[in-house]
Amino acid sequence: MNLFDVYPLYDVTPVKGSDVWVYDKNETQYLDLYGGHAVISIGHSHPEYVTKVSTQLQHLGFYSNAVQNPLQQTLAKKLGELSNCNNYQLFLCNSGAEANENALKLASFKTGKSRVIAFKNGFHGRTSAAVAATDNQAIIAPINKQQEVTLINLNDQQTLEKELAKGDVCAVIIEFIQGVGGLDEASTDFYQSLYTLCKKYQTLLIADEVQSGFGRTGDFFAFQKYGITPDIISVAKGMGNGFPVGGILIHPDIIPKYGMLGTTFGGNHLACSATLAVLEVMQKEQLMDNAKKISSYFMEKVSEIPQVKKIKGRGLMLGLEFDFEVAELRKKMIYEKHIFTGGSSNKKLIRILPPLTVQKKHIDQFIQALKDLLK
Ligand SMILES: Cc1ncc(COP(=O)(O)O)c(C=O)c1O
Repeated sequence: MNLFDVYPLYDVTPVKGSDVWVYDKNETQYLDLYGGHAVISIGHSHPEYVTKVSTQLQHLGFYSNAVQNPLQQTLAKKLGELSNCNNYQLFLCNSGAEANENALKLASFKTGKSRVIAFKNGFHGRTSAAVAATDNQAIIAPINKQQEVTLINLNDQQTLEKELAKGDVCAVIIEFIQGVGGLDEASTDFYQSLYTLCKKYQTLLIADEVQSGFGRTGDFFAFQKYGITPDIISVAKGMGNGFPVGGILIHPDIIPKYGMLGTTFGGNHLACSATLAVLEVMQKEQLMDNAKKISSYFMEKVSEIPQVKKIKGRGLMLGLEFDFEVAELRKKMIYEKHIFTGGSSNKKLIRILPPLTVQKKHIDQFIQALKDLLK
């Protein structure tokens, strides 16, 4: 059987990982400044992560959500403490798209409404409601077009209020820092008005923290910089350090009902132990502080490179914008310098999404490689 060929692949075959490094089948070492697409949070094969997940596997890998699973409570408590979202409720699923799908569905249940407002250049995943809220026509199939979604520009407060005032909007979904779109952010004023307007028009605010969450920006969640409390927060990616797990944090005003949401695999024993290991390591190794520290160092070093026209993002969710398309540069980074970076829908932007354990010496290696390739 052939694979369904939907991914344009680089010719690299990683077989092993350790902290910020991955190794291919020829033992060539690569510096991972892409984190497998913002997924590797505590470093590849962190020893405490490996021990916790493998110990759990030796005891019980999976049982369904029909029976007690105390690991879910332990996880909810720990996540509440570390994220400072103690009063929220946790629903666990398996991916970022699924988290957003559940978030949108819950907003519709809660408000009895169905239209969604999302933002141009945003990305929320590929399931039905999530993909309809994603601004990329190429990935929206005719079957997804049944969803009612209005896409507006970041910072366009006037259109936002005009649309909300129609009274039929169940949710506004937003990435506080756009990931795939290329690291754009709205103004503080816009984010705060968004929060106030959602309250005014009984619309739920969904913070898509799938990429920016779990400490990547140096805060646990990107929205926390603005002092607001979204109704639903979606998480995935860094949450499991590579184990497929996602979830939504749900404001206490939203009351659960049996059957409202559900999943076979979500919140299974292995997913919970992977996520618990991530949280424990993040706390022990103070990885959010490290994200802030290395981010400042990165910005300082990159500002010395004149070809970089703009540095975007926060913490270890960063973008470097050039005045030329970066595909060739990224290829050379991999094949000549053995450094993984990320692309985005902005063809002139390189994304930097390393494990939160990255150190100054790794940044130096990247800066030197960039200088060499730009000569
Ligand atoms: C902000 C954001 N939301 C949702 C998703 C979808 O996540 P997944 O690929 O796990 O379904 C992504 C993935 O890149 C993302 O960046």
